[in-house]
Amino acid sequence: MIHRAVLFLALALGLGTQLTSATEVMVNNTEGKLCLYANLKVNFSVAYEAVGDKNATAVFSLPDAVLTNGSACANSSSTLRLGFGQGHSWTMTFSKGAQSYQADSVTVDLNLADAAVFPNATSNETMSVTVNVNATSLSKADLGTCYSCNSQDVIRDGGVSQTLWSVLIQAFVANGSKSQEMTSCAADVPITPSPAPTNTSTTAAPTTAVAPTTTPIPTPALPTPTTGNYHVTTGVNGTACLMADFGLSIGFKIQGQLQKMNLEPNGTSASGTCGVNSSQLVLSNPSATLVFTFVNETAKFRLHAVTVNITTGSGQQFYSENTNLSLWAASVGSSYMCNKEQSYNLSESLALHTVALRVQPFAVASGKFSTAHECSMDDTTALIPIIVGCALTGLILIVVVAYIIGRRKTYVGYQTL
Ligand SMILES: *[C@@H]1O[C@H](CO)[C@@H](O)[C@H](O)[C@H]1NC(C)=O
Ligand SMILES: *[C@@H]1O[C@H](CO)[C@@H](O)[C@H](O)[C@H]1NC(C)=O
Ligand SMILES: *[C@@H]1O[C@H](CO)[C@@H](O)[C@H](O)[C@H]1NC(C)=O
Ligand SMILES: *[C@@H]1O[C@H](CO)[C@@H](O)[C@H](O)[C@H]1NC(C)=O
Ligand SMILES: *[C@@H]1O[C@H](CO)[C@@H](O)[C@H](O)[C@H]1NC(C)=O
Ligand SMILES: *[C@@H]1O[C@H](CO)[C@@H](O)[C@H](O)[C@H]1NC(C)=O
Ligand SMILES: *[C@@H]1O[C@H](CO)[C@@H](O)[C@H](O)[C@H]1NC(C)=O
Ligand SMILES: *[C@@H]1O[C@H](CO)[C@@H](O)[C@H](O)[C@H]1NC(C)=O
Ligand SMILES: *[C@@H]1O[C@H](CO)[C@@H](O)[C@H](O)[C@H]1NC(C)=O
Ligand SMILES: *[C@@H]1O[C@H](CO)[C@@H](O)[C@H](O)[C@H]1NC(C)=O
Ligand SMILES: *[C@@H]1O[C@H](CO)[C@@H](O)[C@H](O)[C@H]1NC(C)=O
Ligand SMILES: *[C@@H]1O[C@H](CO)[C@@H](O)[C@H](O)[C@H]1NC(C)=O
Repeated sequence: MIHRAVLFLALALGLGTQLTSATEVMVNNTEGKLCLYANLKVNFSVAYEAVGDKNATAVFSLPDAVLTNGSACANSSSTLRLGFGQGHSWTMTFSKGAQSYQADSVTVDLNLADAAVFPNATSNETMSVTVNVNATSLSKADLGTCYSCNSQDVIRDGGVSQTLWSVLIQAFVANGSKSQEMTSCAADVPITPSPAPTNTSTTAAPTTAVAPTTTPIPTPALPTPTTGNYHVTTGVNGTACLMADFGLSIGFKIQGQLQKMNLEPNGTSASGTCGVNSSQLVLSNPSATLVFTFVNETAKFRLHAVTVNITTGSGQQFYSENTNLSLWAASVGSSYMCNKEQSYNLSESLALHTVALRVQPFAVASGKFSTAHECSMDDTTALIPIIVGCALTGLILIVVVAYIIGRRKTYVGYQTL
């Protein structure tokens, strides 16, 4: 039993490490600057002829360690060549358009003489299969963005079946650094849930007023955004009158394609205004400008409006706003805090995701946050005493019931004697 448990644990751990592994490569151009980035997982299933007129199937994964010899970047086309094992390779070619780039072909070269992968193969030659993915599932990505696809994509041709997933690729990297923006593949873009059919029955439970925040949105496939400390200051000495700390990631749709970007605090400047009934925080960097408008009504504040302007790496413009919000509410003189990741769908085409949020748009005293009003999501700690309390009550009840039953039994016992 113990042995089995240990074996199971070992298997689970082994599987775990296998599942978390990925192949990550960076290709530099002739100037030594990053020009092609790839992080992906590929599984292969290859049919081949084995001795004795048998058909055999080899199943293997692209290893983590690969060689990039043969990869190259040019102005309008690039080649990613990943060499692995005993003379095998996987090659993807890319071409560049005016505003986008795309994968054109995938070539798999397999050395059938590698008995470890192809045992008993009749041939000792290299089998080569090229698939034109020009206009297929591997969709286009905007220039200056990473192509991201967490979904599985299966390419089948010439007896070779390739499953690609957890793909993050950027070809034609500009200025030597990978973009923070993404073009997600169609398979990853969520289907917006169609509104539920209106319930004609009047006895239906009253639907709670739904803020524009509750629709589920996919968690971004980006690293957790870095928390920024954004302050609006007044006066010559620059005392803070509005403070906002958060990590922000923005999901936006351009022409139906979902893109995501993290707001990098480094390089993002904060400005704005502080008023009696309204305050504004303006965050801007070369690719995005966000305006958060807070209002003070009856000594309570809330986030009332958000407008977002984005210029993508390929020069496309995005603009969206929601001027009818009621988020991050607390009393003036306190701050609003929410550590957990929160997702807000602000419009059909715009979603914000925040982490480690703390804001105080009014009445900031001596550059410090006042007492925090925490969002309900963080209130799970309050549940623990309740759970403990309930458990204790239950225990006491059981003891009391057991005592009563025990007493009755004893009583009955004495009676019969
Ligand atoms: C690519 O360039 C980076 C610096 O830009 C360097 O650290 C890295 O070693 C280079 N990689 C190769 C394979 O030359
Ligand atoms: C890829 O292959 C590994 C081992 O061969 C397997 O555990 C894993 O489930 C496969 N993943 C996919 C998505 O096919
Ligand atoms: C092997 O596969 C080929 C084509 O896929 C087929 O024609 C042949 O009959 C198969 N041979 C055996 C022994 O299954
Ligand atoms: C591939 O590159 C590595 C170093 O980058 C080198 O040691 C190796 O010989 C190269 N292999 C081939 C087949 O060119
Ligand atoms: C590539 O682009 C650079 C700068 O845009 C240019 O100087 C160079 O001639 C181009 N090379 C080719 C082969 O087109
Ligand atoms: C195929 O290879 C296995 C070992 O990988 C060996 O045991 C078996 O005898 C081989 N079959 C034939 C028909 O050669
Ligand atoms: C490949 O196989 C052929 C015949 O099947 C043989 O003559 C040749 O020597 C083999 N080559 C290698 C490199 O094993
Ligand atoms: C790739 O697609 C474009 C149009 O989408 C087409 O003009 C071109 O011929 C295709 N290339 C190949 C190799 O099929
Ligand atoms: C600015 O700071 C100096 C000294 O720290 C102080 O004397 C002055 O009153 C301050 N001015 C304002 C407008 O707060
Ligand atoms: C922020 O930018 C500075 C200079 O622009 C750089 O030295 C620093 O490493 C950057 N920090 C991060 C976390 O990117
Ligand atoms: C907020 O509004 C109330 C009136 O509703 C006002 O008394 C208070 O001074 C305002 N707070 C700030 C910080 O301006
Ligand atoms: C944002 O875009 C809107 C509409 O295109 C435009 O009116 C506004 O001036 C832009 N704001 C900024 C700060 O770029």
